[in-house]
Amino acid sequence: MSVSPVSLPTPTILVFDSGVGGLSVFREIAKAQPQAHFIYAADDAAFPYGALSDEALIDRVGQVMDGLIAQYQPSLVVIACNTASTLALPGLRARHAIPFVGTVPAVKPACAASLSRRISILATPATVRRDYTSCLIREFANACMVDLVPSSRLAGLVEEVLAGREVADADIFTEIAPCFVDEDGRRTDAVVLACTHYPLLVERMRALAPWPVAWVDPAPAIARRVTSLLASGQVCTSLHPDMAGGLPPVRLVSTARALDAARVSALIGRPVSTPEILAWPLAAAC
Ligand code: DGL
Repeated sequence: MSVSPVSLPTPTILVFDSGVGGLSVFREIAKAQPQAHFIYAADDAAFPYGALSDEALIDRVGQVMDGLIAQYQPSLVVIACNTASTLALPGLRARHAIPFVGTVPAVKPACAASLSRRISILATPATVRRDYTSCLIREFANACMVDLVPSSRLAGLVEEVLAGREVADADIFTEIAPCFVDEDGRRTDAVVLACTHYPLLVERMRALAPWPVAWVDPAPAIARRVTSLLASGQVCTSLHPDMAGGLPPVRLVSTARALDAARVSALIGRPVSTPEILAWPLAAAC
């Protein structure tokens, strides 16, 4: 008896970040939606987004997203980057009819879970200065004290580690140390990982921390949001013949250097296709 492979309808989900950080979000979504077809796109030519002016970032994300959507026609886009989401989401939603899921600092759950009523938000300098972040704190901190901790180096250190290079504990510790505050009888008991790069180093951060804290990663909540959007029927599905052979390989694209397929595959626990560099020209981000 011969069995013809069946192609199942699957959504195509585009997960986007400035670099490898969005993989921390990607792996949670892929766990929740193993049947989905994924594209992971890294705008590494403009990394770090945390160093761009607001205007340059809006232009850049708009330009890259226009190209990615035209080329891959995803049914859903996840902006797996706090620095971009806290600024560029309204513009993207106005330009494109497909659903966008953003990633923003998890202030609400961290404050709700804090027993000492003191938390820190560890983020890029751009996310720290955003009005969006101030609004989240005003709305959800209640009686919780919030210390904002900008790091201009930590996302880059994560890129180094993911590229297989050594990063000293001392360099990581310097970036996380200001998160730990013990003042006026209140000691930090939660740190919001408000840059998607950071969860990729959380075990090293945990080992270096001066005292135990909850490290709050928004990725599981983002995966739940994606799942509920898919279940709501608001997301179009399409046919992917490669489903017949098992999990569809994740398509890896970037704007500067090809991603390291073996490392990415090991991190996300899924097969990946040969990494591609986007062929279309992009104006330099400055
Ligand atoms: N992963 C990005 C975020 O969540 C930031 C890294 C960058 O500065 O490009 O904010």
